[in-house]
Amino acid sequence: MTPLVDAEARRAIREDLVSSLVVEAAAGTGKTTEMIARIIAVIRTGAATLDRIVAVTFTEKAAGEMKLRLRTELERARNAVTSGDERDRLEAALEKLEVARVGTIHSFCTDLLKERPIEARVDPLFEVAAEDEADHLYQQAFDTWFQAALGDPPEGVRRLLRRDDPTDLLRDAGHALKERRDFDGAWRRDPFVRDAAIDELVIELATLGPLAALGHPADPLAKLFRRIEVWIAELGRRDGVRRRDHDGLEAELAKVGKWYEWRYSGRKQLYAEGMPRAAVLEQRDAVKAALDAFLIAAEADLAACLHGELRPLVAEYERLKARAGRLDFLDLLARARDLLRDDRRVRNEMQLRFTHFYVDEFQDTDPLQVEILLLLCADDPAVSDASRATVAPGKLFVVGDPKQAIYRFRRADVAVYEAVKRRLLADGARLVHLATSFRSVPSIQAAINAAFAPVMSGDGQASYVALEHHRADITDQPTLVALPVPEPYNWRGDVTNWAIQQSYPDAVAAFVAHAISASTWTVSSG
Ligand SMILES: Nc1ncnc2c1ncn2[C@@H]1O[C@H](COP(=O)(O)OP(=O)(O)O)[C@@H](O)[C@H]1O
Ligand SMILES: [Mg+2]
Repeated sequence: MTPLVDAEARRAIREDLVSSLVVEAAAGTGKTTEMIARIIAVIRTGAATLDRIVAVTFTEKAAGEMKLRLRTELERARNAVTSGDERDRLEAALEKLEVARVGTIHSFCTDLLKERPIEARVDPLFEVAAEDEADHLYQQAFDTWFQAALGDPPEGVRRLLRRDDPTDLLRDAGHALKERRDFDGAWRRDPFVRDAAIDELVIELATLGPLAALGHPADPLAKLFRRIEVWIAELGRRDGVRRRDHDGLEAELAKVGKWYEWRYSGRKQLYAEGMPRAAVLEQRDAVKAALDAFLIAAEADLAACLHGELRPLVAEYERLKARAGRLDFLDLLARARDLLRDDRRVRNEMQLRFTHFYVDEFQDTDPLQVEILLLLCADDPAVSDASRATVAPGKLFVVGDPKQAIYRFRRADVAVYEAVKRRLLADGARLVHLATSFRSVPSIQAAINAAFAPVMSGDGQASYVALEHHRADITDQPTLVALPVPEPYNWRGDVTNWAIQQSYPDAVAAFVAHAISASTWTVSSG
């Protein structure tokens, strides 16, 4: 067999045990396989015993699979080695596998807190609240808080109550805040004279109304202006009978900003006799820019205001959790981080006890997990600030696929990943890329390379690493099928992303069902 194009990278993972490594590669390139190979190499050569090793990933499912694969590979290695010492080391590891720190990062933190509850200031009998239990406690806290808030709504709540589905908005806002409660500083609230800004904006919008009568009724611009004119007239009627209601107007303006009529500019050179379309568009765009700027400022102001008002909700959630003796997933991370940061003895003990850390799916890491890892891997026992920690050589091994982290997942995002990667490399870690994909055939990879290489530039997101094929192409059945979108049109007859997204999943699922059950093709997964 010809050697893989990335054989050198794979060799480094298995043999360069004295460096810390950052392995970056796409799905199916053997990242988890290589990580396990490295753990085996460390154990086999006696560089560490299993009780000094921590291997973590982010989901229960991946953690279970990792442990299973580790067992299989330990057995395989034990059966293959010829040296008695090596066999003894592998045998010892197999015996200790069940109690090894191989699991999710949350289970690692749970073990740490259970071991040191006094130093960590947690209830020694605490139990972990699973996600649905934590959601239930949050819902209870929300109901209590919302009842109290409705009695005399503070400013932010009052403003939000004018929106559609305010309860959902508040519940979601509270949830988001609770999920970020480890960042507990107050939010900046810039001076913002909302009522005056609204009055000014209404005057600006009103300047567009009279343009409606000048254009052809079917002209998209005239339709926008007409809608504005009607809205302004209705507002005028309301202003005539009662004082202007700025909370209501703020909510209305958010809707005005989303009118679909803003999107169409029309094509004809002239909007009306002697009125070039370009000049009218300029006027429209200036008003729209003012509206957008207002909405951004108003939302930021509202968010800062709500941030303070939702604090009692988060406090109530904390109270309910404490009463039930529960820690949620964020508590596990936050308390473990606090313990390692604030208690030097515990930190140093853990630094000595664990000599090798392995992190799979590192693109899913969040800032607290990073802090925990950096504190545990720091070479200087005195350092308590993770941002100043330098990773001891060879202590950390991370594998990840930044391409899978383009979207925020929980609290993880690719910026955290990239920042940690840069730090590790600056501290002397090696960056290694795997490029051979074991899963898909060459034609699929060629298509993926062609589609993603040009758009994933590395600017604010992951940069693209082209995949090399490993499997042979399949010649007697199709490997790449282009499916037409059944209904790419919206109700107006325009092709839209939304319509495509709506109609595509069913079509893809139907085609896959056909490929599996009715086509005569060989179908396998993996
Ligand atoms: N060196 C290799 N040669 C052949 N197949 C491999 C090799 N490394 C991994 N594989 C296979 O490729 C598939 C993906 O491996 P995995 O380690 O799960 O990849 P990743 O973690 O990058 O998604 C698995 O089926 C695995 O058995
Ligand atoms: Mg994997």
